[in-house]
Amino acid sequence: MKYLILSTSLALAVFSVANLVIGESLSKEYVGSEACKDCHVHNYENFMRYASKSRSDKNVLLMLDKLTPSEQKECYECHTTGYGKPGGFVSFEETPELGHAGCEVCHGPGSEHALSGNPDLIIGRLTIEKHCSPCHEDERVRNINYKPLLHSGAH
Ligand code: HEC
Ligand code: HEC
Ligand code: HEC
Ligand code: HEC
Repeated sequence: MKYLILSTSLALAVFSVANLVIGESLSKEYVGSEACKDCHVHNYENFMRYASKSRSDKNVLLMLDKLTPSEQKECYECHTTGYGKPGGFVSFEETPELGHAGCEVCHGPGSEHALSGNPDLIIGRLTIEKHCSPCHEDERVRNINYKPLLHSGAH
């Protein structure tokens, strides 16, 4: 019995180490921009002041009453943080802190990184195709010619 418990916890330990090594985890969740503030004051303040993403909830809230539930869901896909994903936006009542398109729409779910500060646990290098196109029309993105756009709209 003792041996069984020991080998089970050993297997678990090996499993978690393996997860850490490949930088992936089953438990990466969305936590919201506010959770990034303490360690990235400059990025956070610039983002909240200048990026229209930080106010993208207001644009949806203004029209919410006139939209059907399925139209509302469509808006949430692009205008909120992590809609339909672990830890992500549920509704303006339940998860107001995820109501805007925050840091994690570009950098990915940040729960593990925010706990450890380990840069390997967050997406640092971004590409237009992978990280912007899900929400921004390709043509428009290409017209502005990639690079400046990659660094704007953020911080
Ligand atoms: C406990 C402190 C802490 C918190 C909270 C935190 N970070 Fe970090 N972050 C760090 C440290 C330390 C680094 C590595 C040094 C650096 O690049 O500033 C880093 C690096 C990064 C990088 C660069 C990664 C790379 O590959 O170079 C990104 C992007 C990032 N953080 C985003 C976020 C986001 C988004 C959040 C909120 C979800 C967040 N951080 C919360 C400490 C933190
Ligand atoms: C989850 C969806 C989503 C992703 C992913 C996303 N954006 Fe956005 N972005 C938005 C929304 C929504 C707005 C408009 C907010 C509003 O005005 O309500 C916006 C606005 C912008 C703007 C307008 C300027 C400003 O003030 O913010 C730029 C530039 C921009 N995004 C660049 C990017 C780039 C570059 C990437 C990829 C690195 C990216 N976005 C990824 C949803 C997204
Ligand atoms: C496919 C992603 C996507 C969906 C879905 C989406 N939006 Fe947006 N929205 C954006 C982006 C990106 C921008 C920024 C436009 C730009 O600068 O390119 C934006 C901008 C806006 C703006 C500001 C326009 C301006 O001129 O400042 C409003 C208002 C808005 N969206 C409302 C909504 C509403 C309401 C819904 C749901 C019915 C919705 N959006 C669905 C991506 C989306
Ligand atoms: C529109 C997409 C987008 C959003 C939203 C965004 N970032 Fe970034 N972030 C980027 C890009 C692009 C880079 C540069 C990556 C590179 O050099 O390849 C970057 C780099 C970083 C870095 C590393 C370089 C540096 O400036 O220290 C940190 C830390 C970071 N972001 C934190 C944040 C935090 C915190 C937020 C929210 C307050 C945020 N980001 C929101 C796109 C975004």
